Amino acid sequence: MTYFRPELADIPAYVAGRNPDDPDVIKVSSNEMPFPTLPGVAAAVSGRIGQLNKYPDMGNALLLEAIAAYHETSVANVVVGNGSTALIEKFLTAVCTPGSEVVMPWRSFEAYPIAIKVAGGRAVPTPLRADGKPDLGAMLDAITDKTRAILVCTPNNPTSAALTHDELHRFMRSVPSEIPVLIDEAYVDFVVMDDPVRGIELAREFLNAVTLRTFSKAYGLAGIRVGYALGVDDVVAGLGKVATPFGVNMLAQSAAVAALQERPAVDQRVATIVKERDKLVGALRALEWDGPEPQGNFVWFGLGSDSERFARFCAEEKIVVRTFADEGVRVTVAEPDASLRLVRAYKKFRA
Ligand SMILES: Cc1ncc(COP(=O)(O)O)c(C=O)c1O
Repeated sequence: MTYFRPELADIPAYVAGRNPDDPDVIKVSSNEMPFPTLPGVAAAVSGRIGQLNKYPDMGNALLLEAIAAYHETSVANVVVGNGSTALIEKFLTAVCTPGSEVVMPWRSFEAYPIAIKVAGGRAVPTPLRADGKPDLGAMLDAITDKTRAILVCTPNNPTSAALTHDELHRFMRSVPSEIPVLIDEAYVDFVVMDDPVRGIELAREFLNAVTLRTFSKAYGLAGIRVGYALGVDDVVAGLGKVATPFGVNMLAQSAAVAALQERPAVDQRVATIVKERDKLVGALRALEWDGPEPQGNFVWFGLGSDSERFARFCAEEKIVVRTFADEGVRVTVAEPDASLRLVRAYKKFRA
């Protein structure tokens, strides 16, 4: 007997990265930053610790102003949530009716099919291109009169391949304007390529484009849960209406404002990761790794049925990676020691 809607029974369980107990083990399975909390953020959070008897600002005023100023836009175009995952869930819940279809790339962020199901919709997965990018042509072909939303992930989790702005712009021109497109740019800060996607520009140009950002990745705030969406004011107002009241807690609001003020330090940390990624890619390519050119803070090993075997070599090197059974292994770029261990594991695997 269950109280839940029957179609929720087969929701795939979300597999979170394990936090290791052994101090020698490095966890590179959740695309987190390897650095400790930024000093300004730690100070801002500490300053609030004595006030937890109060509710947070329900209107998120300071945070909205800080994000709007950072992106040179108006607060009317910004909505914040308890992580960008919460915004995806809320958006889909607000637009789906029974039988609604949501087109998404697959394999992609694991939370998508779950959020779609919970919203009462039906996920329409479209296989990735051979280069690991979402196949925008296939996504256009998958649109029907039941399509209520489209999810685009770039750089795509877990393949780390990113679309160009031109590709996504052409796609947006072809999508009927009554279908909203959520452009998930969780890893935007790590993109170093020609013609990178500029989601903010798309959200300004197309009424149906909404870009999603998070403080969990480049800003290193995964533990405190803040994300935001940028879009036209009526989309933002709609999302604001369905937001969980007081959904972004007091510490999270202060932390995110402080993190924006520390943007130069964030940029430095991102540059460190990008440099490490380049080094790692060089070492892996020398071992004939032929994964997609990574644009996120993670690399993809599309090893198919060999994935579990490679993950075991990684475990021997005391690195916890994220395995997608029979598809591949995703590894977060972290400290140089993690890269060394990964390269060693890959060498042994190849041998
Ligand atoms: C593509 C993508 N979007 C969103 C998120 C979640 O971000 P948040 O921590 O803001 O919920 C992740 C986290 O791994 C992700 O990979």
